[in-house]
Amino acid sequence: MQPSSRKRYALVGAGNRGTTMWGKDLIGGWGNEVELVAVCDLNRMRAERALEYIGVRAPIYTDFDELLRVERPDLVIVCTRDSTHDDLIVKAMEAGANVISEKPMTTTVDKIKRILEAEKRTGKKLDVSFNYRFAPTAAKIKELLNSGVIGEVTSVDFHWYLDTSHGADYFRRWHAFVENSGSLFVHKATHHFDLLNWYLDSDPQTVSAFADLKHYGRNGPFRGERCRTCPHKGECNYFLDISKVPLLQSLYEDPSSEDGYVRDACVFRESIDIPDTMVASIHYQNGVQVSYSLNTYMPIEGHHIAFNGHKGRIELRQYEAQAWTMPPADEIVVMKNFDGVERIWVPYSSGGHYGGDDRLRNMLLKTGPNDELRQRAGSRAGAMSVLCGIAALKSSRTGTPVSIADIWGDDNGLNLLDTRP
Ligand SMILES: NC(=O)c1ccc[n+]([C@@H]2O[C@H](COP(=O)([O-])OP(=O)(O)OC[C@H]3O[C@@H](n4cnc5c(N)ncnc54)[C@H](O)[C@@H]3O)[C@@H](O)[C@H]2O)c1
Repeated sequence: MQPSSRKRYALVGAGNRGTTMWGKDLIGGWGNEVELVAVCDLNRMRAERALEYIGVRAPIYTDFDELLRVERPDLVIVCTRDSTHDDLIVKAMEAGANVISEKPMTTTVDKIKRILEAEKRTGKKLDVSFNYRFAPTAAKIKELLNSGVIGEVTSVDFHWYLDTSHGADYFRRWHAFVENSGSLFVHKATHHFDLLNWYLDSDPQTVSAFADLKHYGRNGPFRGERCRTCPHKGECNYFLDISKVPLLQSLYEDPSSEDGYVRDACVFRESIDIPDTMVASIHYQNGVQVSYSLNTYMPIEGHHIAFNGHKGRIELRQYEAQAWTMPPADEIVVMKNFDGVERIWVPYSSGGHYGGDDRLRNMLLKTGPNDELRQRAGSRAGAMSVLCGIAALKSSRTGTPVSIADIWGDDNGLNLLDTRP
């Protein structure tokens, strides 16, 4: 028997993301590239349910150190809650594995430093799963910006909308607490700040932000502990019946008997401490000004982005869920000052995140794809987008602009702010 050339990977975190994107879908589409050798989750039953869903047999560990010692994986894919990523990433690299981390790479400045230091020390490689860079629309915009069609970019308008289903989901779970997610300025906006950093090929310098909890949490008209036992089921627009969603019932509700992690906690809990309505102004190193917002209880799921330059404007309005029928393609409009309009239609791509998920997996796991647009994102990109989110949250709390250099503080020889690859 020839030894297999497939990468031996271990999955840590057997929730929805781990089980689908980095479990069933990965094995289904990239089975020639990877082999799942173990799953780790603090909740054994969830890991068992995950493996049943994925359809492979592999050993289960609740102790990550033991997994690393026994299985010696080549690659670890980290899909746990955000505030735990750093520990797992560092341990995996110290055990000799390369790592793919789900976004956000982590949640605090100290944790960023820990990860960068470990990567430097071990010589192992960390990839961060910034799938939106790989959406065909994003790639097209990047090409247009690179072509100089609108001249030097001077400002960007970027507004992201989460609907009453996806947006509310963050308020049902651990994401609803800054300690776990860093707030949605980190958990969710890490995608958006990364897109900006990549599109603009620059780093954020200063951030001014406002953020409030205006809709969920203490703002609710009533509250319970969780939907399943709630006396307000009949009157609450956010009522979620987990028993009607087989994957949620199997992967979360049944295993909740082991760890008490429920998927339908009340979105109106008074303890919720993350904002749901956020705006930020970002000044970039290259002088570009960005106007950003994130709203979490909208009738649409999607975003608007526009790049304003000396010679014109590139604009995209893109939806993932909306109450009207969309054409089978997204329209990028390129408006040239004094010179008309070009409408570019980019056909919809199947797969998650505007088609980014599949292309990301190709880039990370197949040999050979070129990376002309520099879509592959490592720890530096992971760090920079998280820093922007941390700065935004801090600014919203202090009422003053926050400089990235100030929150980064002592560089400890990591050269983060001095170098752009
Ligand atoms: N790239 C994307 O677009 C995208 C989309 C969805 C989720 N995500 C990310 O994926 C990650 C997981 O999201 P999810 O929705 O599946 O979360 P989840 O809460 O459903 O699952 C996380 C799992 O990790 C386990 N876990 C927590 N700490 C652990 C530890 N220290 N060791 C082992 N297991 C541990 C939990 O028991 C749980 O089963 C998050 O970081 C999230 O931001 C990324």
